[in-house]
Amino acid sequence: MTVHFIGAGPGAADLLTLRGRDLIAASPVCLYAGSLIPEAILAHCPPGARIVNTAPLDLDAIVAEIVAAHAGGQDVARLHSGDLSVWSAMGEQLRRLRALGIPFTVTPGVPAFAAAAAALEAELTLPELGQSLVLTRTPGRASRMPERERLTTFAASGATLAIHLSIHNLAQVVADLLPDYGADCPVVVVWRASWPDQRIVRATLATIVAAVAGSMERTALILVGPVLGGEHFGASRLYAAGYDRRFRPQDVGSRFAESAE
Ligand SMILES: C[S@@+](CC[C@H](N)C(=O)[O-])C[C@H]1O[C@@H](n2cnc3c(N)ncnc32)[C@H](O)[C@@H]1O
Repeated sequence: MTVHFIGAGPGAADLLTLRGRDLIAASPVCLYAGSLIPEAILAHCPPGARIVNTAPLDLDAIVAEIVAAHAGGQDVARLHSGDLSVWSAMGEQLRRLRALGIPFTVTPGVPAFAAAAAALEAELTLPELGQSLVLTRTPGRASRMPERERLTTFAASGATLAIHLSIHNLAQVVADLLPDYGADCPVVVVWRASWPDQRIVRATLATIVAAVAGSMERTALILVGPVLGGEHFGASRLYAAGYDRRFRPQDVGSRFAESAE
């Protein structure tokens, strides 16, 4: 018996890995984390599967479901939205399973920031403009931020920010970022990226609060940074004509000479 932790992706049912789909289809028990997992993904469960929404359960109750499946020798597909490496609460479940000696596997999924970037048809790292992406959040009712992980600290880097779990905090996010990014810095909010009702609001730090106007809650990602500003960036060296690289050598003769030395 094995518990398969599976990243179920950002919403669109076909943004699930083939491995994830096959594990769901082979597991007689499916525990899924609330409304962010679309019905069409649950449809991969085998006929007669025990399918449990864990949103109303606490950790002990979730572990009790797993222990019962373990006792019955039944594999469990454990679904979380997006990828498992960020804000999935997988860590605390794995710690309990390790202590209980219950085997598990981990299958990654498409994270929300990648789905949002795809919705924008945007690359989030661009030559000269931005080469780092910070995945972060602001403090929530249940989650304090470590003292040194303040938004203002990340802002000082000027990196592209993907701010999760914070749409209700938008005005404070703007106040924290204005001093370093400036009023004209592009901001995009993507709500329910990849779902059929996906919405995108593009604005600047000066205008984003009014543009969103409280119309979005919960499942929204706030992207901030100069890379979101359009086409004004340089080209990478990767595809530059005349740029010598391993798979596109410019001077084959001298390369052989080098490797012969
Ligand atoms: C608990 S976190 C889960 C993150 C997830 N594990 C991931 O890999 O992206 C939930 C937050 O992720 C973001 N999020 C998740 N799905 C999203 C989507 N489809 N569109 C926009 N933001 C999303 C929102 O900021 C939301 O508040």
